[in-house]
Amino acid sequence: MFETRLLSSDKSDIEFAAELINIGEVVGMPTETVYGLAADALNESAVKKIFEAKGRPQDNPLIVHISGLHMLDKYVCNVPNLAYKIAERFCPGPITMILPKRDIIPSITSSGLDTVGIRIPFHKTARELINACGTPLAAPSANLSGSPSPTTAAHVMNDMSGRIPAIIDGGACAVGVESTVISFENGGIRILRPGFVSVDDLRNFGVTVYCDKGITEAIGEGEKVLSPGMKYKHYSPKANVTVIVGSLENFIKYVSEHNGDNVYAMLYDSDAASYPYKYVTYGDNAEEQAAQLFGVLRKIDEIGAEQVYARCPSQDGVGLAVYNRLLRSAGFEVVNV
Ligand code: TXA
Ligand code: MG
Repeated sequence: MFETRLLSSDKSDIEFAAELINIGEVVGMPTETVYGLAADALNESAVKKIFEAKGRPQDNPLIVHISGLHMLDKYVCNVPNLAYKIAERFCPGPITMILPKRDIIPSITSSGLDTVGIRIPFHKTARELINACGTPLAAPSANLSGSPSPTTAAHVMNDMSGRIPAIIDGGACAVGVESTVISFENGGIRILRPGFVSVDDLRNFGVTVYCDKGITEAIGEGEKVLSPGMKYKHYSPKANVTVIVGSLENFIKYVSEHNGDNVYAMLYDSDAASYPYKYVTYGDNAEEQAAQLFGVLRKIDEIGAEQVYARCPSQDGVGLAVYNRLLRSAGFEVVNV
């Protein structure tokens, strides 16, 4: 049991956090996407503590964070030329590349796979922490397994208080949904998890893009998945979430027929003026919805909602990531009205 300390992102606090990591502890780290639970990616017993703190299944591999492209070749091999091009265009930033790992990355970090996800975060504090540690940092999202990912230090404190020694407060995450996870295939790429770097961003860069089926469809029992994280129930508030596709008018009619004491709508901000029942809002465009989604999913539990009907987000740009996370928090329960 730890008394979890909240650190600032000042140099001396980052150095203190780095000392903790260098003795094999786990620290809450801000990034531009979501907060991560960071430990020395090369230290097996430290990485094991990440899985324990999160309650994460051991077969779900971690992303390894480096501070710049100069670190890449030390940890991965047979890197396709396209990966360097993508890194030069989109890194540092909210994208993770799955690449063949070198032996220096322990098997616990990659859950026994011969590949590892590599990400160069844009958040300055994250890169300063990696540099202060002098080692790559394994970091999954800093939520308890199954819960919505944390986008503020307070969210991390909620989930991790007593489980880790410290959290660095780097403010609210600008993006709000986890990185785009890509693998390389047939001279193009496959998107395993959508994020802020969108399908269009990658296509406009001249890359052939395949989208994994798991992005918008539930993975069947026993089906093979390219990204192990896709098979787990995720981002779930305690409330039952249902995604409703259709006009606001039909949405209101549907809720009126299914309303109750602890029923809330999850609306676009601009819907609220004409909505007659209880609601929360999650922004008006894809960027706002990405930034607000996980906080709103946490708020839903705080207000004691039992059933939430969510207005379906657009699937354009980062909207696909919002749609993917919302679908998963709804256990793929979608109603067309
Ligand atoms: O934005 C992010 O990516 C955040 C911040 C902290 O960097 N991290 C994050 O990590 O979201 P996590 O562990 O919550 O999600 C990692 C996802 C999982 O779905 C995992 O299965 C997948 O990436 N993944 C990791 N390594 C992989 C590999 N070698 N092959 C396929 N999928 C992999
Ligand atoms: Mg996660």
